[in-house]
Amino acid sequence: MAFSQQAGSSIRVALGDRSYDIEIDRPLGDLGKKLKPLGLGNKIALVTNPTVKALYGAAAVESLKTAGYQVLSVEIPDGEEHKTLDWANAIYTALLINQFDRASALVALGGGVIGDLTGFAAATFMRGVPFVQVPTTLLAMVDSSVGGKTGVNHPMGKNMIGSFYQPRYVLMDLNVLKTLPKEELLAGMAEVIKYGVIADAELFDYLGRNREKILGLDRDTLIHIIQRSCEIKAEVVGKDEREGGLRAILNFGHTVGHAVETLENYKVRHGHAVAIGMVMASRLGHRTGLCDASVPQQVEKLVRDYGLPADLSGLSRKHAFQAFLDTIQIDKKAEGGKVKFILPKKIGEVVITKEWEEPVLRDVLKS
Ligand code: NAD
Ligand code: GLY
Repeated sequence: MAFSQQAGSSIRVALGDRSYDIEIDRPLGDLGKKLKPLGLGNKIALVTNPTVKALYGAAAVESLKTAGYQVLSVEIPDGEEHKTLDWANAIYTALLINQFDRASALVALGGGVIGDLTGFAAATFMRGVPFVQVPTTLLAMVDSSVGGKTGVNHPMGKNMIGSFYQPRYVLMDLNVLKTLPKEELLAGMAEVIKYGVIADAELFDYLGRNREKILGLDRDTLIHIIQRSCEIKAEVVGKDEREGGLRAILNFGHTVGHAVETLENYKVRHGHAVAIGMVMASRLGHRTGLCDASVPQQVEKLVRDYGLPADLSGLSRKHAFQAFLDTIQIDKKAEGGKVKFILPKKIGEVVITKEWEEPVLRDVLKS
């Protein structure tokens, strides 16, 4: 077992001396005291964006200060277009001006954009300083804050510059989801659906049965889906931290999804792009003979039930198939000339394969 569950809603990511706890449903006000046992230095940079800062910045700063930390607030403008090397550089500059050293730590307070960028800055500043994730979107809670993928985008491709670098602790306060815009909640649901398809048919069914409760932010239901998602991710990451093989299953829906994001200049939400990608990958799985027709039908139904896009019709314009192929080739999952797809065999099981045909993908994207 690569993860172990503790009392309450705590999951341990088991990675030897880089192991850490994910705490689900822990008040933001506990942040400072939860960091104390980690033995961090006295200086903490709290990296966030103006939207999240206005809502939760003061509570986070107060909690850190009460625990005795000196806090530097670093603000990054809101939006995926700021997940760049330039903004990582802005973080380094703030840290240097304020004489941060290798004993200092970074705390990411925000969604996946802030988490990926802060983690990357932590991985590279002075060859690595500790960092902590405080995810404030559903997507960041179920996926991006866990597992240690950090990075920034390049105009030619999503997440092209990055590092595997694990946080020291992850704190999830579910109350913050009350202010999350509905579209962002739905974007997070795309990644939860992903876990159902790749590893847990029961979770997939649960999502179908509990839509109202989930969208109504019923606490126990949320805890269940976040916990299952984090357990699955922790188990996969514990077995294959650096994506030598198995971890690639977490990229289900991301091959076409990343191409959609890149071609649309990151104006389409990550979760929405993944939703489209999951439907396309499921159709490709069926057309490749791996699964029966009910699989893409079920995936498309659940995606649509959660108000997520299931085809390319909502994009800003029609992109040529060749543009998709070119962008997919640049994707870092390209190895030995042919891109790997993650395709379903059934709900709850996927395969990683290079056995797919271009004309079939073309048909699938058109459908
Ligand atoms: P995001 O970080 O852009 O957040 C979405 C929006 O919600 C932003 O406008 C943000 O300001 C706002 N917001 C955040 N928390 C809020 C709250 N509690 N209340 C009100 N508004 C709030 O987007 P995201 O969907 O969280 O993350 C997407 C990013 O995550 C992408 O860059 C994607 O590549 C990355 N990602 C990384 C991994 C990984 O393993 N590292 C996995 C999945 C996705
Ligand atoms: N989101 C894919 C991964 O963490 O590997």
